[in-house]
Amino acid sequence: MELQKALEARRSVRNFTDRVPTKEEIDEILRAGILAPSACNLQSWYFYVVSDEAQRKLLKTVCEDWISTAPAVIIVCSDDEKGVVSMFGERARKLTFQDTALAMENMLLKAVELGLGGCVIAAYKQDKVMELFNIPKEHPVVALLPIGEPKEDIPAKERKPLTEVAKFCGNLPHGGVNMPKPQLGIRNTEARGQLFENCDLSESMFHNMSLCSGRFENIDLHNSVFTDANMRGTSYIHLNMDKMRFHTSSAIGAVIGGCEECDKKGIHCVNMSESAWDNVRLLNVKMNHIDAEAGTFTDMRMCRAKIYDVDLDGAEMSGINFVNAKIQCSNLFGSTVRNANLTNVALESCDIDGMTIDGVNVKEAIEAYKNGNK
Ligand SMILES: Cc1cc2nc3c(=O)[nH]c(=O)nc-3n(C[C@H](O)[C@H](O)[C@H](O)COP(=O)(O)O)c2cc1C
Repeated sequence: MELQKALEARRSVRNFTDRVPTKEEIDEILRAGILAPSACNLQSWYFYVVSDEAQRKLLKTVCEDWISTAPAVIIVCSDDEKGVVSMFGERARKLTFQDTALAMENMLLKAVELGLGGCVIAAYKQDKVMELFNIPKEHPVVALLPIGEPKEDIPAKERKPLTEVAKFCGNLPHGGVNMPKPQLGIRNTEARGQLFENCDLSESMFHNMSLCSGRFENIDLHNSVFTDANMRGTSYIHLNMDKMRFHTSSAIGAVIGGCEECDKKGIHCVNMSESAWDNVRLLNVKMNHIDAEAGTFTDMRMCRAKIYDVDLDGAEMSGINFVNAKIQCSNLFGSTVRNANLTNVALESCDIDGMTIDGVNVKEAIEAYKNGNK
């Protein structure tokens, strides 16, 4: 199995079918475990496999109940006699945790490849487990790893975005320069009527914020993420919103773009190319002089929207409610609209070459309609 697929498919499995992994499968899993890196290559690990039914049932008394439903449990221990602890003493204990953790991830990924799954368990009574299975004190238990076939599909747990948990220090690889900028993660904040200007907020997170009537001017917001934001009545000019993502937010009555300066120069005032909008309410929104090329707009409410000089070249719009809206002088070249409510929408002076609505080529449909009426 391709590594990326296994990484994405892995889940912590706590509910198993009756299928008992074969001895060969368990061996394969253990072999994957011992391929992990280890401090000084001392391989400070030792594994006890419990697959005997009567023995597995005993585990229930020392751990979470469900563990006894796992057809096999690997008791992951450190090896204090031959490992780093024997060489460097107790101060090296944390290295045994690192060694065994790396081995466990290898084992979990191999399990995925075999159609199995497992879960790292830290909640157990260490002394009791050692006593039950006659584990010597040189092999202190680090974790339990139940293994079996998952009984159901388990949804993936959300991960914090990279921007919240990682940062490049200094320059980027391949000679790119890492511009200093605030690493923002703004949550649960009330910032009504605020002016945000002249700053770099790229790759920032805005979650559960009230930004009503806020003004965003001359800001780099590329790669930022807005979720659960109330942006009613906000205005946006001179912005880079390239690859920005909006989820479950509302920007009723927002004015995006439309400053006179850009209007005169005939340039885009806001760049939101490749941005992704999902479940955002844009009722009564005004969009002027915007680059929204290759954006994706899903489950949007855009009733009474007024769109002027917007480049929606190649944009994908699905599930959009677009009632009484007006789109003028805009580029809709090659855009696709699916499953939208387009009641009373006016398209004026727009480039609609290649544009499709529910798979129907709009230009061709208009031509056919005109010809039919001749
Ligand atoms: C060190 C560690 C200890 C854990 N301990 C437990 C545990 O005692 N019981 C349990 O049900 N899950 C335990 N887990 C599993 C986590 O809850 C799980 O990895 C996390 O919720 C992410 O879900 P995912 O593995 O499906 O992506 C543990 C995971 C790790 C890495």
